[in-house]
Amino acid sequence: MPSATAKTIKAGVIGWPVEHSLSPKLHGFWLDRYGIDGIYLPLPVSPPNIEDAIRALPKLGFVGANVTVPHKEAAFRTVDSLSEAARQIGAVNTIVCDEDGELYGDNTDAFGFIENIRSRAPHWRTADAPALILGAGGAARAVIAALIDAGAPEILLANRTRERAEELLAHFGMPLKIVGWDDRNDAMTGVGTLVNTTTLGMTGNPPLDVDLSGLNDNAVVNDIVYAPLETPLLKAAAARNLVPVDGLGMLLHQARPGFEAWFGKRPVVDEELRDHVLAGRDGG
Ligand code: ATR
Repeated sequence: MPSATAKTIKAGVIGWPVEHSLSPKLHGFWLDRYGIDGIYLPLPVSPPNIEDAIRALPKLGFVGANVTVPHKEAAFRTVDSLSEAARQIGAVNTIVCDEDGELYGDNTDAFGFIENIRSRAPHWRTADAPALILGAGGAARAVIAALIDAGAPEILLANRTRERAEELLAHFGMPLKIVGWDDRNDAMTGVGTLVNTTTLGMTGNPPLDVDLSGLNDNAVVNDIVYAPLETPLLKAAAARNLVPVDGLGMLLHQARPGFEAWFGKRPVVDEELRDHVLAGRDGG
């Protein structure tokens, strides 16, 4: 890699911790592929410093940054203006600095979710059947926003802690419908899209305990978890001849709008990128 100069376009990912983030590898691949004089850095920022660090981005000549755990809500509160998606989700994962040093906050997780499913399951139509979402954390908010935007007629939501599902119902309203966590298997009857947004199935966590037999025969089963890439849920979906969609694609696709805004090139997600990002991964 040639060394950076004063002209090199600078962006990065702000998180705490940030060393497991795959984003530097992913953006670095695109910068090389498109021959762009740019750099994308991991930026570890502890919670007490988050507001100052975000405000400093344009002063340090950064064109923007991604924001990851645990800072997406703080970024939402700090930026000067928000996209409709960020407003809907209540969190910012992509910041773009304009020429006057103003900070624009976007959330590309919903975009990444939909693009990932569409690229892996071209037959998929949201309007065809209800969707069932497991989990009610930050990832669920992005998935629900995406499904509503894509015209989902009914979204069933099951979460271990019912109050968190109720918070999402109060935020999004129709077409959300809460089902009890213990009723999740019964709720699968007639469902065409199942999305796991819980941390169950992730390396080091217990598997997600579900019975997929009620799902429609052409149902798409998406796991937000991507470590491991093939979770027990996706294995069960493949065994039932459903359409398993792994979670890595959401991460790759959510990165596209930021890269385009900062570096001026619309990047493509393909197998070469997936292989590059997966190579040497320690599972985190
Ligand atoms: P994120 O913001 O990344 O989505 P999160 O807010 O920590 O992460 O949410 C994790 C989700 O996994 C939650 O829906 C959580 O359920 P609770 O709201 O009841 O905590 C779910 N989850 C984690 N461990 C679980 C378990 N053992 N059984 C059921 N759900 C679990």
